[in-house]
Amino acid sequence: MENFTAYNPTTLHFGRNVLTQLAETLRPFGTRVLLLYGGGSIKKSGLYDRVMNDLAARGFSVTEFSGIRSNPIIEDVDAAAALGRDHGVDVILAVGGGSVIDSAKIVSVAIPVQRAAWDFFDGQLKPDRAIPLVAVLTLAATGSEMNPFAVVSNHTRGIKGAFGCPLTFPKHSFLDPALTLTVPKDYTAFGIADLIAHCFEAWFGVGETTLTDRIVVAIVKEAMEYGPKLLDDLHNYEYREKIMFAATMALNGVTMYGRSSGDWGVHSAGHVLSLLHDVPHGASLTIVYPAWLRHFRDRLGDRIAQLGTALFDTPLTAAESIDRIESFFRSIGCPVRLSEQGVAGEAREAILRSMIHSRVNGGHMKMQAEDYEKIIDLYL
Ligand code: NZQ
Ligand code: ZN
Repeated sequence: MENFTAYNPTTLHFGRNVLTQLAETLRPFGTRVLLLYGGGSIKKSGLYDRVMNDLAARGFSVTEFSGIRSNPIIEDVDAAAALGRDHGVDVILAVGGGSVIDSAKIVSVAIPVQRAAWDFFDGQLKPDRAIPLVAVLTLAATGSEMNPFAVVSNHTRGIKGAFGCPLTFPKHSFLDPALTLTVPKDYTAFGIADLIAHCFEAWFGVGETTLTDRIVVAIVKEAMEYGPKLLDDLHNYEYREKIMFAATMALNGVTMYGRSSGDWGVHSAGHVLSLLHDVPHGASLTIVYPAWLRHFRDRLGDRIAQLGTALFDTPLTAAESIDRIESFFRSIGCPVRLSEQGVAGEAREAILRSMIHSRVNGGHMKMQAEDYEKIIDLYL
């Protein structure tokens, strides 16, 4: 086992109707709120009216920034930060999926400084304070609600980059599984795939830790058992609850206890597909993971076989494990080849160039240009 520090300051409010506590939770931070949300799903579901009416009735003043897109962009983060700065907001309220919460994290550290938000991503700037962030999660997938990470695209620089520090944890996150009942089937499946991929990134990281391995396997098994049931019954609260809990646990730190790093090479490669072709995040992972596993099968054979054997409760070789994992992704309707996302083979060279430019790599399994080429050829 590796030495580790456990730190997670986010207060999680999980369960039916937890939103009744939202206004009183915001109050200690102040009454001027910057509300961030996405393309309109919260208006359609009625959540927007519910939050706005509640806050208005309790004397909050709300400034809104809407239109955060899936695979969020740095321009929106800069614009939202400028708006928040101009209005002197006391607290940020992010209502949405990972894209909205990630953007809000960077807005929270960008408001106090007169600098481009991208400066945090390329290491030119370290935040020393943040406007408090409270999140209301509407999509189970990324774990952003209980971690410090934010992933944002900069198309000018040609990078989908990540940033996180102790200041970018949400102060509070509200998770009512009922708010995810409206998530469409495709994004529900991408969320299930994403949480499984987060567990895999931990599994293939650095550090041997049997207890944490068991936790990882338990989370993936939960997702593999209840994910397909949920996809057959999208309005089932109990299944939504199980997947929402699993998604938070998959990336809130516990899967990393006893490891010095995860791998994250698949995420790094997947971000290139999202950047170039706007592939939804979860879909980028189901495309890259089988290819990455096949590429590293000779070097990671025992570890892959151990994972497959634990997940499917039967002795499996590494090759059989990879086939089973790929079949699972396919069975929940996720793409496992880039062509299934409508991207043709001509994209190969541009993907390769972007991987080189983005310095795609893993914390454990190091990759170079020849690895990129082989992995691309396996998933095209
Ligand atoms: O924009 P709206 O209209 O809200 O629609 C969204 C969006 O189109 C919709 N949606 C969300 N909640 C809904 C809903 N539709 C109906 N009912 C609801 N209740 O779903 C679509 C996808 O939303 P998005 O926030 O983009 O999805 P997700 O939560 O998967 O976030 C993806 C982003 O998170 C990053 C990804 O790279 C990607 O940019 N990640 C963040 C991580 C983190 N912070 O720790 C780790 C992850 O590995 C990942 O990289
Ligand atoms: Zn992910």
